[in-house]
Amino acid sequence: MPSVLPAGDPVPVDGSLPAAALAGLGERPFGFYVHVPFCRVRCGYCDFNTYTADELGPGASRATYAASAVAEVRQARRVLGEVDAPVDTVFVGGGTPTLLSPGDLGAVLGAVRSEFGLSPDAEVTTEANPDSVTPDDLARLREEGFTRISFGMQSAVPHVLAVLDRTHDPARVPDVVRWAREAGFEQVSLDLIYGTPGESQDDWRRTLDEALACGPDHVSAYSLIVEDGTALARRVRRGELSMPDEDDLADKYDLADDRLTAAGLGWYEVSNWARDDAARCRHNLGYWTDGDWWGVGPGAHSHVGGVRWWNVKHPAAYADRLASGASPAHAREVLDPESRRVERVLLELRLRDGLDPRVLDAAGLGAVPRLVDSGLLEPGTERLVLTRRGRLLADAVVRDLLP
Ligand SMILES: C[S@@+](CC[C@H](N)C(=O)[O-])C[C@H]1O[C@@H](n2cnc3c(N)ncnc32)[C@H](O)[C@@H]1O
Ligand code: SF4
Repeated sequence: MPSVLPAGDPVPVDGSLPAAALAGLGERPFGFYVHVPFCRVRCGYCDFNTYTADELGPGASRATYAASAVAEVRQARRVLGEVDAPVDTVFVGGGTPTLLSPGDLGAVLGAVRSEFGLSPDAEVTTEANPDSVTPDDLARLREEGFTRISFGMQSAVPHVLAVLDRTHDPARVPDVVRWAREAGFEQVSLDLIYGTPGESQDDWRRTLDEALACGPDHVSAYSLIVEDGTALARRVRRGELSMPDEDDLADKYDLADDRLTAAGLGWYEVSNWARDDAARCRHNLGYWTDGDWWGVGPGAHSHVGGVRWWNVKHPAAYADRLASGASPAHAREVLDPESRRVERVLLELRLRDGLDPRVLDAAGLGAVPRLVDSGLLEPGTERLVLTRRGRLLADAVVRDLLP
């Protein structure tokens, strides 16, 4: 969740939604995202809406955050009405969720459970930094109902972690994965980043091998994005660091796909690999397949039935709104059918399950045989599925399908 919010239309003070958006709620996948906007230190590459203790300022605190988030969950129940919509997935992300106590995270999850009910097989994920959890924390998170944990490993190589300003000791990652297993987590995921300045192909190979040696069920591997306004962007602009070229990134993607596939993790989204279908992140699949989700927390985005809204950005403004009973939503947009179509193409094309060609117009359909011939789309599939080369050039494929 990048920290710069778009403009949009105003939201009623009670956050109410148009009736058309509520139609069909509970028939589509429904999830909660809970944003925890705190970090011990800010990584130089990160543009997320997160605050260190020094940056937070008056009017907001980690200690009172769970109470505000619980108030927003209760507000969600009022806005969505009494419709039967048990929650299929909850994803607590950040920031660093594990800077809150397991009890605080459990209180927010408890509010989701009591207001909406959780599906019997609900997927309940929290992100965690390897240096912010102990075996006891993990056991308590499991007791609170978390079923899945995603650790921000990023790299196994100390000089790469140093450029990223990551503070954890890479030797701790196998330990936290083992502790999570011992605590009974059903799914353990590792987040990796490739393309950090100074990272060699051997460094990336070592990261992949060390990640795989931990036996994760799921791996996300994103290439490092230089976000405007970050310390990384300033260092790149000053010439202190240089970003790798496209060929280097393509080689690293190929290496990741080779290594992960050989270890039994198949791709199911361009940047995500899972041991089997059950290990895919159902919460993220909801984002990618036009599901409904309510985003709790400062700057969090929500989407219900074609209405997208986003909350005020600062934790103090967020706490203020909720304390006064007002909606924390800052602005919203009602997506028209063409915008929803474009989003479907952008997101579904990135999935191994592929894009339904009926979403395309005549010009887009006309481009398909050419994309198959040039090796960017798989031949002979009902839905449109990217080849590995197509995954590397997904943006160009989208441009052809949405001329
Ligand atoms: C925002 S973090 C939250 C979880 C946790 N604080 C962490 O860092 O692992 C979620 C993921 O986004 C990644 N991320 C943040 N900024 C990024 C960037 N500029 N390029 C690529 N990945 C990024 C993080 O490295 C992390 O794996
Ligand atoms: S720990 Fe995660 S959320 Fe916090 S600054 Fe670093 S990358 Fe961003």
